[in-house]
Amino acid sequence: MPDTWEALEHDCKNCRECSLWETRTNVVFGVGNQNAEVLFIGEGPGANEDAQGVPFVGRAGHLLDDMLEIIGLKRDDVYIANIVKCRPPQNRDPLPAESEACMPWLREQFRLIQPKIVVCLGRVAAQRMIRQDFSVTREHGQIIEKSGILFMGTFHPAALLRQPQNKPEAFADFTVLRDTIAAVCEHTYHK
Ligand code: URA
Repeated sequence: MPDTWEALEHDCKNCRECSLWETRTNVVFGVGNQNAEVLFIGEGPGANEDAQGVPFVGRAGHLLDDMLEIIGLKRDDVYIANIVKCRPPQNRDPLPAESEACMPWLREQFRLIQPKIVVCLGRVAAQRMIRQDFSVTREHGQIIEKSGILFMGTFHPAALLRQPQNKPEAFADFTVLRDTIAAVCEHTYHK
């Protein structure tokens, strides 16, 4: 694996480790602050993200931006990436083999960022990053420590658009996130 952000992004954008490269328009590498203390991880690009090469730019992305703003954060304060960097056709869940093939890119982003807090947006990210049987419905908003890093699973913003009745719980999770950032992060709220 390359050692710099530039080389990593360049190699990732040429990746053909799974068959998703055949149908992608753009690789969606990730966006935000490379020195972020908080890393958000989604599932994979949708149609808008595939077209623009940037994560969370569709309706779900706008909701994510709103939720960040409510806790006083902008995209530039955090880093946003996905489990898979290429759009699964028809927005289906990534196949286990696709996630597996793509994980080395995220692992390397993780290694470069060294986040203090990781927020998993939705089941696919939470089950890959926290625990295979993680239940967003039952365990969202809980802070789970693994090897000194704090993880939280919460609702995927696209799921919140489909089920707006869960928004109050999601906003409560973001309040927990805000308080956790204030407690453990050094520069996120102090720039
Ligand atoms: N949903 C995701 O999980 N990731 C994106 O980048 C966009 C929508």
